[in-house]
Amino acid sequence: MAKLVTVRLVLALAASKTCQLFQLDINNAFLHGYLDEDIYMLPPEGYDKAVAPQVCKYGLKQASRQWNVEFTSTLLEYGFNQSYHDNCLFTFTTMIYFLVLVVYVDDILTTCTSEEEMVAVKQLLHKKFNIKNMGVAKYFLGIEIARSNDGMYLSQQKYVKDIIQDLKMDQAKAVATPLAHDWNVEDNNSPLLEDPSQYRRLVGRLLYLNFTRQDLTFSVHHLSQFMQHPTYCHWNVALDVVMYLKGTTNHGLYYPANTNMEITIFCDADWAKCTLIRRSITGYCIMIGGALIS
Ligand SMILES: *[C@@H]1O[C@H](CO)[C@@H](O)[C@H](O)[C@H]1NC(C)=O
Ligand SMILES: *[C@@H]1O[C@H](CO)[C@@H](O)[C@H](O)[C@H]1NC(C)=O
Repeated sequence: MAKLVTVRLVLALAASKTCQLFQLDINNAFLHGYLDEDIYMLPPEGYDKAVAPQVCKYGLKQASRQWNVEFTSTLLEYGFNQSYHDNCLFTFTTMIYFLVLVVYVDDILTTCTSEEEMVAVKQLLHKKFNIKNMGVAKYFLGIEIARSNDGMYLSQQKYVKDIIQDLKMDQAKAVATPLAHDWNVEDNNSPLLEDPSQYRRLVGRLLYLNFTRQDLTFSVHHLSQFMQHPTYCHWNVALDVVMYLKGTTNHGLYYPANTNMEITIFCDADWAKCTLIRRSITGYCIMIGGALIS
């Protein structure tokens, strides 16, 4: 599985070079994998009819692995380079154009500075894997991708709205920060939640906002340390984060067009600040041409 930072990098690249971004759906691509080993399964109880051996490839772990092997070798044969740092990233660079392709579970995202070359690669994939559905990417991994001449805007608005609605917090007032300045999640007197599953579910959903909501990284990371034994105090802090989301539903990442792709890194550290473990807290962000990617 590709790293999220790789996916962000591909998006930033497409934004900067103002290239079309395509999404290939390989949902039933696993059917095209070749199995080079026999798969045996136990017949269900009461099933005693002897039948000719049949193999169902769809949904098998082996099928997806096999598909990946085949997909990779097809691209390498075509001349793609596979990244050492993330082997789900493939690049094709010439003096005139470059093409990048990233595989994330069963989705592929690809972009190219040459339209003709993009068509050629699409045709290759169509011929070899019957990948038909190759539209412009608008909704990838639950991320909404909006484009204009100035750049690309990534958000998870719909996902945020669902969280607020499911908690029936539509009427709640919005707060300005995810954690109040005097936040304290270490109230030892706070009773344990009777039903910790609701806390785990909420924090799980907040974690899923990691793609576009770097502003939540610290608070959600902190909350996720209490998944085992959450208290009412933790739950209230988590609800504060949702109230913050209420006022910032449409926040996301903006990736500008026509940048120089310069790398800028900011970091900060707060010595021994964490009252829980007495360790330092560090934070960093990496931008490429003004696009936050990590
Ligand atoms: C593959 O990588 C090598 C070494 O970096 C480079 O010389 C070559 O041009 C690359 N080929 C393609 C098609 O990107
Ligand atoms: C981050 O978000 C992606 C989808 O955008 C998800 O697949 C992944 O599990 C999330 N990471 C965590 C730690 O929840």
